[in-house]
Amino acid sequence: MSLVPVKDILKMASDANTSVIAFNCIDYNMIYSVIHAAEKVNKPVLVMLYPEHAELNNTCNPETFAAAVKSVAEEVSVPVGLHLDHCQDVSYIIRAIKAGFSCVMYDGSMLPLEENIENTKLVVKIAHAFGVAVEGELGHVGVAANKSDQANLDLYTKPEVAKKYIEESGADALAVAIGSAHGVYKETPKLDIQRLSEINAAIDTPLVLHGGSGIPNDQLDMAFVNGINKFNVGTEFFHLYHETMRKYTEEHPDGAALFDYPKYAQGILMDYLVKKLELSKF
Ligand code: 13P
Repeated sequence: MSLVPVKDILKMASDANTSVIAFNCIDYNMIYSVIHAAEKVNKPVLVMLYPEHAELNNTCNPETFAAAVKSVAEEVSVPVGLHLDHCQDVSYIIRAIKAGFSCVMYDGSMLPLEENIENTKLVVKIAHAFGVAVEGELGHVGVAANKSDQANLDLYTKPEVAKKYIEESGADALAVAIGSAHGVYKETPKLDIQRLSEINAAIDTPLVLHGGSGIPNDQLDMAFVNGINKFNVGTEFFHLYHETMRKYTEEHPDGAALFDYPKYAQGILMDYLVKKLELSKF
């Protein structure tokens, strides 16, 4: 089917008291695997572009990325949404909106609160004029390689500040800092579910959990019933894709084997994705 607005998919997740899973992708094999795995398990899914990946790799600029996601989404019957991950550059956000992204993340989490609110407000004004939703971030989801980031309470989202941020900025979804971090954890994270439920009680806005690689499933189950409606996964998916390439070239040194590689990689990625998507209780 045609792409479904991310806002509608977030509403479906909120109504079902669960989370949609959003995967970072960098090329067609990853996009194809995410969408067809979702079809296999009959669940909605989100495909995300991270602008820094587009800078490194010109096969995933917003226009080509959006065209690939739209075309693969036509092959399936489950709802697929297209989201722009962490972005601070308003002109890039406009470019993504023009390319067909139905939700964009403005990440002002490192800025002073008032500046974050003002900037998010501007992005919301632009995005809403095109019917596009905006995800903001409050508190700051740090980097897992800095062990202190995930445990630094100063970086965590405060419920009363979340209320102010949402009321004043008009953002449609909020990424919260509750103990997760981006990348490979040095220590198993321990999500602050109490804080999450307080944030959820303070605002009527879908909440987003970043830094999804390596969080134990029992914690995710708790997070999904306490307000998380969008769950972002990148690192573990990228690592699996890289490992798949490494193994394949080791096992198939003959250049002609290249032509069989996409099917091989997609098969392995889809096995992982199907298991991950089972966490969504749609
Ligand atoms: P991980 O790469 O840690 O899974 O986090 C992904 C993410 O939060 C993208 O915004």
